Amino acid sequence: MRQRLPRQAGRRVHGSTYGSGDRLTATPALSCLRHSERRCGLPQPGVGWSGNHHPGGNVAENEVQLRAEALYKVFGRSAESTIRKLEAGVDRDDLGEGTTAAVIDASFEVRKGEIFVVMGLSGSGKSTLIRMLNGLLEPTHGSVEIGGEPLTGVPTGKLRELRRRKVSMVFQHFGLLPHRSVIDNVAYGLEIQGLSRRARLERAREVIQLVGLAGWENNLPSELSGGMRQRVGLARALASDTDVLLMDEAFSALDPLIRREMQEQLLDLQSRLGKTIIFITHDLNEAMFLGERIAVMRNGRIVQIGTPEEILTDPANDYVAQFVQDVDRARVLTAGAVMEPALAVVQESAGPRAALRVMRDEQTSAAFVVSRDRRLLGAITDRKALELVRGGRSSMTAELAEAAHVETGTTIAELVAPAIESPLPLAVTDANGHLVGVVPRVTLLAALGGDEASEAVAAKLIAPLPAATVETALSAAHTAEGGL
Ligand SMILES: Nc1ncnc2c1ncn2[C@@H]1O[C@H](COP(=O)(O)OP(=O)(O)O)[C@@H](O)[C@H]1O
Ligand SMILES: [Mg+2]
Repeated sequence: MRQRLPRQAGRRVHGSTYGSGDRLTATPALSCLRHSERRCGLPQPGVGWSGNHHPGGNVAENEVQLRAEALYKVFGRSAESTIRKLEAGVDRDDLGEGTTAAVIDASFEVRKGEIFVVMGLSGSGKSTLIRMLNGLLEPTHGSVEIGGEPLTGVPTGKLRELRRRKVSMVFQHFGLLPHRSVIDNVAYGLEIQGLSRRARLERAREVIQLVGLAGWENNLPSELSGGMRQRVGLARALASDTDVLLMDEAFSALDPLIRREMQEQLLDLQSRLGKTIIFITHDLNEAMFLGERIAVMRNGRIVQIGTPEEILTDPANDYVAQFVQDVDRARVLTAGAVMEPALAVVQESAGPRAALRVMRDEQTSAAFVVSRDRRLLGAITDRKALELVRGGRSSMTAELAEAAHVETGTTIAELVAPAIESPLPLAVTDANGHLVGVVPRVTLLAALGGDEASEAVAAKLIAPLPAATVETALSAAHTAEGGL
């Protein structure tokens, strides 16, 4: 599934060939994984996109792009008194005929460049919430602020201008004009912005290329598949180059394979453009895949906001717990969440004897070798270290094997391949190639269950050398060195 798309900034696992003897070097260019990758947001060379609002895409962690405060939307009679009832704790089901509290006391902040997912069952208030965020619906109470400017309580003209400049929207059923070509659909929104026809078409071509539809500019929507139509919808939203992109069940009408492809592409685009995206879905797996943070809605209220991991491992209440119980954890939990401290670690300069000692003390058959600043350089096995010690060698630099390593954001499902290829535990590195932990095999086995892959992982385990052999070699080497 994943291989279908070119993934310049995708999640990757690397360094998985064991025994090549190559020195392992840190590869920061490949280091933007999953959530962290989006913050890297490197503009891709050769893409004719201005992306001028987000130079480099490196946004400060706490830069708020959108803020919603105590938002309420009540449909029907006596909205104000309804809010007072809700504030007093009355359930929305007990409000009486003709009054619907669609959104109740929603407060949250979305950071610049974040994908913030709002998830909930049908009827939980998601669409109403998102319509208040782009000014389509006026809140009954509360405020919305985008890029530091209030969207609520402003005159109609100003609101229209703000919406055009700040937010664009992608709809579930695409909302394309059937008698207009792809390029005219994409350029449509730019007419209102007052761009010349030439400038509009140029911009439209850029974004069409960006979403992978180059060559389809002159086709009609009816000539495209569902996935392609939604790419047109996405291109149209991107064309206006707003900071915020709102997507209401944008992929829900697509069949599962196309849907996953679109999710992948959205992550890819996000890592290039650094947009702030609020993505609405009723699908938990989609929420977990896309969201840096997820707000779970139930009956109009936000019942929890957290990272996918937080929501899985620490659900706020039984409702959320039940909601998440069927999630494929291996696709959500990351190496960073399950890793443990690396114990069998030795500095390269310490040499093979020190390495052998570490392995003896930790009862492992291999150790990770790091630089003085803890950059992962490779691994050494006890067999190799023993050979070096017996041969009287004091450096192990030339003998390092490549250590299979993944980055903190890699999902557990993606750990299987490198784990199978390597007899070592999987090293976990940060964006700069520093060793920050290991994923123990037991963790991996537990997460995967007893399938073939986990058996293959288990089969690779190599027992440490017998203690006596190591002791003999160490003391012999000691004598030899002492005699020099
Ligand atoms: N214009 C409206 N008038 C009356 N009730 C509405 C209106 N829009 C939505 N609702 C009600 O508000 C609740 C939330 O709807 P909605 O925001 O569409 O939920 P979701 O998008 O999560 O499915 C539902 O009970 C729905 O019937
Ligand atoms: Mg909806």
